[in-house]
Amino acid sequence: MADQSGTAAGFLAALEAIRAEAERALGAAQDAASAADLRIRLLGRNGELTALLRRLGSIDAADRPAMGALANALRQEIETRIEAFTAQALTISRERQLAGEVIDMTAPGRPLRVGRLHPTMIVERRLREILHGFGFEVFEGPEIETEWWNFEALNIPPDHPARDLWDTMYVAEPGSWEAGAPRPAEDGTILRTHTSPVQIRAMRALTPPIRVITPGRCFRYENVAADRNFEFFQVEGLVIDRDTTLADLKGMLEQFAKALYGPETRTRFRPGYYPFTEPSVAFDIGCLVCGGIGCPVCQRTGWVTLLGAGMVHPTVIRSGGLDPDEYQGYAWGMGLDRIAVNRYGIADLRLLMGADLRFLDQFAEGR
Ligand code: DAH
Repeated sequence: MADQSGTAAGFLAALEAIRAEAERALGAAQDAASAADLRIRLLGRNGELTALLRRLGSIDAADRPAMGALANALRQEIETRIEAFTAQALTISRERQLAGEVIDMTAPGRPLRVGRLHPTMIVERRLREILHGFGFEVFEGPEIETEWWNFEALNIPPDHPARDLWDTMYVAEPGSWEAGAPRPAEDGTILRTHTSPVQIRAMRALTPPIRVITPGRCFRYENVAADRNFEFFQVEGLVIDRDTTLADLKGMLEQFAKALYGPETRTRFRPGYYPFTEPSVAFDIGCLVCGGIGCPVCQRTGWVTLLGAGMVHPTVIRSGGLDPDEYQGYAWGMGLDRIAVNRYGIADLRLLMGADLRFLDQFAEGR
């Protein structure tokens, strides 16, 4: 066949071929995407009809306007048909989607998650319960303290080597600016390293005789490991009265240990050291794992330390705004996480703070 592309007849034949191609392709198209492809292939910048229009210049000037009009009419026609096809294709796919989304009114509802108490909180509640029975009320203090409350008031002056026992996290360093005002040179704002500062707050807020426990969260700048975390819970106990003695402390703690671990529990007191008590003691219970024979848990001693305690130091009583010649008392402090770990046989203390529900859900007590 002779090259007719420069003639009106050739142009018309090419227009017809494009119309036929559009028809065939739309007939075969499955979805809106293939119609969009077709649009690019025929009408796009490098599309077939566009290419044909570029050849309009080589046609006889007399035929040119008619050919141009026909070509534009075809462009319009194909455009309209593709639009119609696309609209229908979208409707169909939406209908199919809706048909797949049948709502089954008879299906059972989704179960609601029921929360549980955290293992450490189960232990805390148990301690509150026991100590409530011994006449203690709960008195809580802030988690953010200043160095004065956390240390000085408890007879731990700045530079005292005992501060090394409590690696401290600072919120604002001594002398730095905080809330638009400078902190005193000696008194930074810190995360409390123990619940002991609440002793001072309790003495200032309450009138003796005082019998309080102060449960709460504490923080230390720790090398986090299986047996230590930077965040943990303590319960502090404080008794202040006119003639409280070490014998009261011993009797009280023995009864407490037996209430917590059973009447057969063996206990012992050892000398200890805390700046805020004098004398100070460490209170041990017979190892619950080996019964005292010696095992890895008790480091083969047969004993496990439960808490530290002692007679409240006169300086501490003074910090609490009371006269040590008039009032004495005893105090103790213990870690809750360790008790929880022992009670539930948890190998790694960090799991307690891990917020992993697969782990935490195992502790069914205390819904
Ligand atoms: N505050 C101590 C600590 O965190 C625990 C402690 C020991 C508290 C003896 C007391 C006490 O009240 O008398 O290691």
